Order: sequence, then structure tokens, then C-alpha cells
Amino acid sequence: MIRKRVAILISGRGSNMSALIDAAKAKDYPAKISCVISNIPDAAGLETARANGVETLAIDHRAFGKGKEGRAAFEAALDEALQRFGAEIVCLAGFMRLLTAEFTERWQGELINIHPSLLPSFKGLDIHERMIEAGVKIAGCTVHFVSAETDSGPIIGQAAVPVAPDDTPASLAARILEQEHRLYPECLAQIASGRAHLDEDSVVRLDGAAPSGALINPIPGIRP
Ligand code: GRF
Repeated sequence: MIRKRVAILISGRGSNMSALIDAAKAKDYPAKISCVISNIPDAAGLETARANGVETLAIDHRAFGKGKEGRAAFEAALDEALQRFGAEIVCLAGFMRLLTAEFTERWQGELINIHPSLLPSFKGLDIHERMIEAGVKIAGCTVHFVSAETDSGPIIGQAAVPVAPDDTPASLAARILEQEHRLYPECLAQIASGRAHLDEDSVVRLDGAAPSGALINPIPGIRP
């Protein structure tokens, strides 16, 4: 089996990164994690990656200066590192830098991200707080191809979870994160194996199956 070479970009704790590294330990997983790159040199995830025998690299964005030029220089260094590692797919996993259209276009169809909401709802930051404030009853996470606009791009997969009446942003985040760790390896496997791919502006899946059933919140049929 040919395993696609994957680079993971992180900025922090790297729990999604760990889920991908763990999934790729299976012999029949269609991707191999070639490297983990962080824009934050002391990101906790780097140590976890190293402990799992994965090569790591820190590219501190602050070293490239501010403004358009700094951003371009940072992305050039990132791109050069990705080429060097032979990356065929790039997974953003809690990577907290906005990427320019030049970069996302260059990696189009090979650059994917995970976001803790059911996109296109709740793009951006402070997502869990905003979902609770809005009173949504079902939340979730999305894996998508990255396009130039933040938190947008063709959707590869989603997982939904209920929101409990007494949820705090932290308890909701934990419930969603558990599903992120299931969804991301599944979606990466689909892309790496070619079972799903980007075609123009949408994701084509070879196996068109979808799960049956529905998540309804509140639980239907409960009467006083
Ligand atoms: C996750 O919630 C992910 O969806 C978002 O940032 C968070 C990263 O967490 N993009 P971790 O570093 O993977 O633990």
C-alpha cells in the first residue's frame, strides 16, 4: 500500500495531531505522518510528536517580521520545509496563523483543517462561548479543505454532538473534541486513499454511503 506523506501544522497542545499520529500507526492506514511543524517553538504538541518518533520543526513566525512581507517570508519558509519533507497532504490541527491566498491556492486539494463547529456556522474564534450564547441544541466539528477565506472551503466530513442545558464552554469543547479525534483520522484516510477528493469547489466521495438515523435534542417523546 502506498502511504501518502502527511505534514501536520500545529500551534499548541496538539491533541488532534496525536489522534492522527495514533491512527497512522495502524498498518492499513493510508497515510504516514512525516513531520509536525509548529509556528510556536514551545508548543506542547512538538514534544508529544517527538515522543512518538515523528520529526518536528519549529518555524517561529515572529522571526519573519510583521506585515505582508513578514507573512510572505514565513509562508515561504513553511513551503520550503513542506517540500523538504516531501509532504503530499498538509493537515492544520490547531494551527493559529491565517494563511494567504497564495499559500492556500498552491496547496489546494491537499490542505485540510479541523474546526470545532458545524461550518458554515460559527467561523472564527470563541466558538464554544458563541454557540452557548446562541442557544444551539446541536454542535459539532468539521473537517474541510482550506480555501483562502478563513474557516471555509469544501467540507469533507462533520460530526454532531448535543448541547446540554448546563453546558459551559469547557464542557461543550470537551464533548466536541472527543469527536474531532474520531473525525479527523477518518477524513484524512478518505483523502489519502483517494476515496474522497476535491473536484472544483466540492468534495467527491467514491462511496456515497451516509449513516442512518438522526440526532434530536431534546430527546423526543419524554412527557411529564
Ligand atoms: C481544536 O478544537 C481544533 O478544532 C481547533 O483548534 C483546536 C486545537 O486543539 N482548530 P488541539 O491542539 O488539536 O488539541
